[in-house]
Amino acid sequence: MGEESSPDLEKYVQSLPIPEEREPDSRRWGVEHHEVEIQETTHSFHPDLPDTVIWGFDGQFPGPIIAGRRGRPLAVEVDNSQLPDEHLFEVDERIDGTTTENYVGYDGEVPEVRNSTHFHGLNVPPESDGQADMWISPDGVEGPRRARDVQVLPNRQSRLTSTYHDHTRGLTRLNNYAGLVGPYYIRSREEKRLNLPDGEYDIPLVLADRSFDEDGSLQYPKMFMANVSGDTATVNGAAWPSLEVEPRRYRFRIINASNARTYDLGLDNDDSVAHGSVPTIHQISPGHGFLEEVVSIDHHGDLHSLVLAPFERADVIVDFSEYAGETLTVTNDAEFPYAGGMDHGDNTESHPQLPEIMQIQVADELERPDTSVDPTNLTLPERNGPDPDDAEVTREVTMEMDMDMDNGLMIHTLNGKRWGDPVDFQPELGSTEIWELVNDDHHTHPIHLHLVEFEVIDRERHGDHGDTEGEDGHDTDHSTGPLPNERGGKDVVRVNPGETVRIAVQFGDFPGTYPFHCHVLEHEEHDMMRPFEVVAEDETDNPWRSCSDDPDREHSDKSGWG
Ligand code: C2O
Ligand code: CU
Ligand code: CU
Repeated sequence: MGEESSPDLEKYVQSLPIPEEREPDSRRWGVEHHEVEIQETTHSFHPDLPDTVIWGFDGQFPGPIIAGRRGRPLAVEVDNSQLPDEHLFEVDERIDGTTTENYVGYDGEVPEVRNSTHFHGLNVPPESDGQADMWISPDGVEGPRRARDVQVLPNRQSRLTSTYHDHTRGLTRLNNYAGLVGPYYIRSREEKRLNLPDGEYDIPLVLADRSFDEDGSLQYPKMFMANVSGDTATVNGAAWPSLEVEPRRYRFRIINASNARTYDLGLDNDDSVAHGSVPTIHQISPGHGFLEEVVSIDHHGDLHSLVLAPFERADVIVDFSEYAGETLTVTNDAEFPYAGGMDHGDNTESHPQLPEIMQIQVADELERPDTSVDPTNLTLPERNGPDPDDAEVTREVTMEMDMDMDNGLMIHTLNGKRWGDPVDFQPELGSTEIWELVNDDHHTHPIHLHLVEFEVIDRERHGDHGDTEGEDGHDTDHSTGPLPNERGGKDVVRVNPGETVRIAVQFGDFPGTYPFHCHVLEHEEHDMMRPFEVVAEDETDNPWRSCSDDPDREHSDKSGWG
């Protein structure tokens, strides 16, 4: 990125920190209530690096785990009033939404520090969605679409591994890079019954690349750049950590919380006695609910490696029981910028690559017997995704890159439009649509829709971009179904260069305006984000409206929500 590289840090000298699960601060009407404070504080990424000033939810990076239960609403109030009024990073005012002049549809004050917290992957009414224009500044200036301080999350959906993260117009990339991201879970009874590794054997791995100055401060380009990479791999806020595990099964919830980096993860074993053998990664979920079937990931598996673009997640089980005493490395094969594993002859040399992420040391002994389910013998609960045959409307979304003539910046767009352009997608509440995501650019764009979990129908190559070896070394020179680990509820899907990905989306449960965008935060910010408006034909179709008229009912009638 044309900046200095980070100090050299020794790998695997510190143990992996594990974020704690947040206790609710109170209960109101039987609803758990969290009061989260955004704090500027210091954080240690590595014992040899001076402490780093970060912004964190509850002062932590990543933020604490916030967990809800399926069918039980949760209320979260995020307070940023303690933040200073100057940003940690240079705010590039050429980016829309950073000044009154470049703000579309708003002529009030635009303070330099603002926050809006989005709960990614949630089926939630728009007022509680934490969207780009729903920001508030530390001294209380409110963005044009801010409606409430307490966000009510219905958790009326399948079990979930996801995140909450900053989504502020013009500042999303900076606020996330400063540290404003944490894990969000929804647990369900169905999940509990599967007898997955639990408690201390259920560990989130929040991946985020960062760069540092000698003095430990986070380094981010002063001027807007479309592709920003860090040269240091961090997991749960620690640079190149090491995790000691028992020789038993673990569940990992792998969350890519990087601004722009895609990972292509695998395991490596240097031990010559083991002849390089590594445990299989068994993926059970892409974030929402469960996959159709457990997907095995190893050299002979359904997939050879696990690709995760920004804000994609994977719930996996790894069995270390045959690896007592061995040391495994979590490796990353993806190039930056990512182009679907294809050789696109791009400027990957000008970006740091991160071939290693963390290490796993398997202890010699078990502390207690492992009674969790064997993933090779696990039947996952059935899923009712949207049916493409129900779709009456098909929409096309194209991805383009251009020069923004106003300011000489590179700009990415969807359908050649920007966030401030009028809404032109108006799906009907409850209806199913097919969206064709068409990538004519030479980088992969992970496309995210708020509100929904969608179904990947297929991938088709439509152009000549590099060679035809796609992800996983499989030939992708024709239409293929979803990848094995895309056969489940998704809210981010990678669209590779020259590819058209079709998704089926059902637009429940709430009417209103929501964004869809590329989840590379630099792309999203300039200006790969568009709105869609879910329209209720008839007000009585709106289950939310009818129950929120009566505040008591909203909280007491949970019968239909389980
Ligand atoms: Cu994860 Cu619109 O965001
Ligand atoms: Cu989202
Ligand atoms: Cu993109």
